[in-house]
Amino acid sequence: MLKKLLFPTAKQHNTKPYLCRMKILDGKKASQAIKDELKIDVAQLSAEGKKIPHLAAILVGANGASETYIAAKVKACEEVGFISTLIRFEETISEAKLLAKIKELNNDPDVDGILVQLPLPKHISDEEVINSIDPDKDVDGFHPVNIGRLMQGLPTYIPATPYGIMLLLEHFKIETSGKHAVVIGRSNIVGRPMSVLLSSNTYPGNCTVTICHSKTKNLNDYCLQADIIIAALGKPEFVTADMVKEGAVVVDVGITRVEDSTRKSGFKLKGDVAFDEVAPKCSWITPVPGGVGPMTIAALMKNTYHSCITKN
Ligand code: GUN
Repeated sequence: MLKKLLFPTAKQHNTKPYLCRMKILDGKKASQAIKDELKIDVAQLSAEGKKIPHLAAILVGANGASETYIAAKVKACEEVGFISTLIRFEETISEAKLLAKIKELNNDPDVDGILVQLPLPKHISDEEVINSIDPDKDVDGFHPVNIGRLMQGLPTYIPATPYGIMLLLEHFKIETSGKHAVVIGRSNIVGRPMSVLLSSNTYPGNCTVTICHSKTKNLNDYCLQADIIIAALGKPEFVTADMVKEGAVVVDVGITRVEDSTRKSGFKLKGDVAFDEVAPKCSWITPVPGGVGPMTIAALMKNTYHSCITKN
């Protein structure tokens, strides 16, 4: 959808307000299309008497954001027709008990995908937990075996956020070949796998990729050279208009809760990009919320579906 928008905030940045031809990378719309396809595929499995995908999700403690993400994952399972099991543990659960539960799920032939919502309490090692999940059921794609396969360009479970971004670029037919992509952030969950995917010999892909991080000098100079910016550093409104080239594609992975007493929830969600001032310069941009977030869920659903059909 082509949007003609007047951005009055442009005034604050010493540029004239102008009509721009920026388009929204609408993650709600793209994720709905993916879920609609999956729903048909699941109905087909059911009609053929085949196994229905089953996702087991583990939530430890009661972190507000994690509760929201897990609820969205369970709801998406219902929407597409998967079976889901949500296993909740108290914040104080021991690592040994959590590992025992994962072992049980690894050995349960009915379970196709296992995810343990991060972050975990400090007394539990993320690494031990991730390494204990059967790589064939690791629909988050965090296990070293799956990360290694990703590095080698082999079929694998791609971590949901970078996979969701690739699906979003594909859905809106964004040109990526030969483009310079700047990924801001080097996390194992987003930045690193994103850089591998964007540089791979695929579509979307074939980008020249620069990874920037907290120690990068002259970060603005790299960003100004970018045709595609992936902002994944977790700092609200870090990317400002002076860092973005005219016509750039900007993907905002950030989703930070910031206090807002005017809202019933007491917070609002902010991305890593100062949307109002950056959007007028972009050819395409993701909103927050409604951009990368829903795509992450759709990607997880795709991984779970594939886990089921390859094992059964
Ligand atoms: N916490 C933040 N993102 C993710 C994710 O993609 N998977 C899991 N399991 N936890 C997360």
